Parts: sequence; structure tokens; C-alpha cells
Amino acid sequence: MAPQEKVRLQKSPVTIAHISDFHIGSYHFVSNLLNRTIQEINEEGPDVVIITGDLTNEGFRQEYNTARAYVNNLECPRVIVVPGNHDSRNVGYLHFEELFGERFTRMEIAGVDILAVDSSEPDLDNGRIGRERYKHILQAFARPDSFKVFALHHHLLPVPGTGRERNIIYDAGDLLEVLIYSGVHLVLTGHKHVPYVWELEGMYVVNAGTVSSLRLRGHTKPCYNLVEIREDEVLIYRKYPFGERDVIACFEPGAHGGRHVISGVVKEIAGLEME
Ligand SMILES: [Fe+2]
Ligand SMILES: [Fe+2]
Repeated sequence: MAPQEKVRLQKSPVTIAHISDFHIGSYHFVSNLLNRTIQEINEEGPDVVIITGDLTNEGFRQEYNTARAYVNNLECPRVIVVPGNHDSRNVGYLHFEELFGERFTRMEIAGVDILAVDSSEPDLDNGRIGRERYKHILQAFARPDSFKVFALHHHLLPVPGTGRERNIIYDAGDLLEVLIYSGVHLVLTGHKHVPYVWELEGMYVVNAGTVSSLRLRGHTKPCYNLVEIREDEVLIYRKYPFGERDVIACFEPGAHGGRHVISGVVKEIAGLEME
């Protein structure tokens, strides 16, 4: 793998709206919040909208039809959607494929490489990526000077303020090393309904809150994220529907890929010399 270089973009900024966990069909779903968010995103005009799962509550066809209708209201020409554990309930991933298409999406936008993956398993709340996919991740992020974004539903690091830790993806340790080795700058996740940002080895892991569900923890409020990517600065905002926006992270995208490969797992996948 080529050493990572300084990020080069063909336009600036490249902008992402990141929304998650609609939970359509749940008693706690509030359509007003989702409608307002879609309106705000349409006014914002991002380059891409990334939806990190749990669009439905039980994976039922009628919930999927409603989710599709909401997503159709987004004017953004690029919308990336991955399923969450709730979408894979009741074999709902079949409806996902029929109404939203592929469960894995790779996209390039003006120097930003995005890989979004399905971390759900049918009828399980736990998530996994799986070692069979690690090579694909390395290949997706092989360009040395792109800004790299990885998206999935399940959280990759524990999220404070969420009580008992559970459902973190099974292979979080190995995946973290693969992503850091690949030079990934930004990871977008959902699932916990609590917004948070971690920084690990120069990689920012941003958990979105739920955008339209009142299934909340503590004093958190429904919200979503807006990301502005420039060559020398990345800004991440937390936006509350009907409300204000706060900067929750600001960083310079560093060239950190290739460092900190300690375990045999990544060495084997990347074909590195084993000691
Ligand atoms: Fe959720
Ligand atoms: Fe979830």
C-alpha cells in the first residue's frame, strides 16, 4: 500500500449530511423531525447524504415503503444508505435491496473516497464486518491523496452516556486497525442514538444521534451531522432539527495511514512482511 499523502480535492468544500436511525414504524418516530431535517438538508445542498441505518423499526415492507418515500424527498443527487439491525429484522434486508439497492456502496466525489457497508446480520442486533471484507476496505482506500470516509450502522467505539456496552461490532479491534492502516480520516456510525466524537490515531469516529426518534437516552435530543471537508480543515457540525448547529469537531486531515500495524491480522491481509 502506498504511503498516505496530503489530501487533494477537486472542489472545496466537499459536504456531507449524515443522518441516522429514523425508526419509521416505531411509536417514538416523529415525522415532523424527519420532514424538517429533509427540508434543512435540501436548503443546505450537500454533495452527498449518508444514511447510516435503522430507517425502519422492524424491517417490515410498509415501513420500508414509507422510508423510501421520505428519502425520495431529498433533492441531493447522491444518497448512500446502509441498513441497520432494525432494518434486517424479519428478513427486512430483502426489502432494503429492492427499495434502496446495494447494501455496500463505494463512491468517489471530487477527491473524497466513501465506502459504506452493511454491518447488520439477519434478525440479530449485533453487528460485524468480517475479515473477508478487510481486503476490499484496503482496496477502496488505496489512493494515497484522497480524503477517506467509512460508514456503517453499528458503533465502532463505546459511546459515553449510553449505559451498558452492547452491540459494538464483533470485530471492532481488527476493523479499527484496518481502517487506521488504510488512512481513513472519518468514520460515520449510528445505532446508539447518542451523538459523540472520538479521535483515535488521527481518525475521527463520529456517531450520529437519532434524527427522528424520541427513543433517547438521558438528555440527548434528536440531531444529525453536517461535514465540511477542505484540504486543510474538516469541520463537523451537530445540527438539531428546528434548532441551532454546533461545531463538534475541527481537525486537519493528516496523512496517518500505514502506521500502528501491530497485529498479524492486518499484516496478513495487506501482504506485509511477518516478523
Ligand atoms: Fe437505532
Ligand atoms: Fe441500531
